[in-house]
Amino acid sequence: MAMDLFGLLKRDHKELQDLMDEMMKRTGRDAQRADLFRQIQAELLPHMAAEELVLYPELLKHSESEMIALEGIEEHKLAESVRVQLVEETITSNRWLAMFKVMKESIEHHVEEEEGELFDKAKQVLSDSLLKELASRFEAEKKKAAG
Ligand SMILES: [Fe+2]
Ligand SMILES: [Fe+2]
Repeated sequence: MAMDLFGLLKRDHKELQDLMDEMMKRTGRDAQRADLFRQIQAELLPHMAAEELVLYPELLKHSESEMIALEGIEEHKLAESVRVQLVEETITSNRWLAMFKVMKESIEHHVEEEEGELFDKAKQVLSDSLLKELASRFEAEKKKAAG
């Protein structure tokens, strides 16, 4: 059986968490940061793009879920702005790792809110048939965003 939308999102979140945890263990092995950072971006960017195209617009349509969706969108922008700074910072520096930790903690907070309040609200306001449709659109948009 195919995974439902919440299962797909949780699977992505878990993969991202594992990669970010791995980065924190690589403090003394700078050469491996770049490859891990590439993998993290390849996981993070299509996921955020697909959420913004497929899930968030549906949640913005309902007053019960509008605020948590607006908050989520702002958290995406925050993660994206730290990511851009990481691209520009020297990857072998301690400052880079400190900035990465800030991004990691902000993503962890965001994921906690998505899997908590946002999933709860989504289950309340979105029909089962719509959720099914969103699940397949989410996978399609992720593929498109990954190029
Ligand atoms: Fe997410
Ligand atoms: Fe998100």
